[in-house]
Amino acid sequence: MNTKLFQLDEIEQAAQLLKEGELISFPTETVYGLGANAMDEAAVKKVYAAKGRPSDNPLIVHVASVEEVANYVEEISAQSKELMAKFWPGPLTLIFKTKPGVFSEIVTGGLTSVGIRMPDNRATLALIHYAGVPLVGPSANTSGKPSPTTAAHVYHDLNGKIAGILDGGETGVGLESTVLDMTNPEKPTILRPGALTKEELESVVKKVYLDQHLITKEESPKAPGMKYTHYAPNETVVIVNGADEQWQEAITYYQSQGEKIGLLANENRINQYKSTVTAVFSLGDKNDATAAAKLLYAGLRFFEKTAVTLILAESYENKGIGGAYMNRLEKAAGNRFFRK
Ligand code: TXA
Ligand code: MG
Repeated sequence: MNTKLFQLDEIEQAAQLLKEGELISFPTETVYGLGANAMDEAAVKKVYAAKGRPSDNPLIVHVASVEEVANYVEEISAQSKELMAKFWPGPLTLIFKTKPGVFSEIVTGGLTSVGIRMPDNRATLALIHYAGVPLVGPSANTSGKPSPTTAAHVYHDLNGKIAGILDGGETGVGLESTVLDMTNPEKPTILRPGALTKEELESVVKKVYLDQHLITKEESPKAPGMKYTHYAPNETVVIVNGADEQWQEAITYYQSQGEKIGLLANENRINQYKSTVTAVFSLGDKNDATAAAKLLYAGLRFFEKTAVTLILAESYENKGIGGAYMNRLEKAAGNRFFRK
């Protein structure tokens, strides 16, 4: 299969392929998604095959309007209505109780709930509109690898496996949406942190909880996808905290072990150590966690093209978008931190 790159004036052609049960990757404000008609079981099966995704991991359904959600879910609470009014289109996936019989078990992973989101990307909203159906949309990467933030990343992972990619340039946020479980009206719970923070959500919903696994790392996560290896490049990733001495020691230590080191770090750090390591990728200004979030996946993918065997990665303060950045980085690193 030839994977065709569609430009923004070719959305209708891409939509036609979706109607025919083919897979089209689409841009969003978070990361690129792998789109298929959510109502077409055979098409959804192809998504799992193309990504190599475990079949118990449910998919997010992408819609083009708030109104259509009522067709797919049992009940929409007043709080959910307010959240959609305030944050959609945007990086917020809401988990609802699904109307029985609407989605196949392949979409919901056999759960009685479904995740729905309206992405903040005009081209993709038009794509959904022309397709005339909601689209499933997991991140468009090979399962386990960093999510794609450019059409080139998608092409790298899925060339030959999908019909096309709608090229919308680089994505904005760079990390996946915040997943908020609204199935228990008493207890809105974040299952996956993202660009929308707990504090922002609490401007609408009085109290937002965190899934237990985000607090005590031993608990098993409620979002099935959170238990798998994720975002991991081929190289080993080790997170280094703060101080300069730590970085110097980490570089010396791993070089003595024969590792070829790549630095995924803030601009200052890069400037300080670039002459002593094999390759570097800058995450931008040290105080700008938003920039780091946007560049994290591209950075993790960058080292594949180098001789690097081990990546030393910058940590950011665990608050706001920094919390989502650390959640993804810790997974990419398999929770490996450098401690002397
Ligand atoms: O930003 C995003 O959300 C991107 C873009 C493309 O929209 N999509 C995305 O999809 O990240 P995916 O499939 O890579 O991640 C979906 C996550 C998984 O952790 C999955 O387990 C969880 O959402 N999820 C989906 N439906 C769920 C449900 N009914 N209950 C609990 N978790 C659910
Ligand atoms: Mg994913």
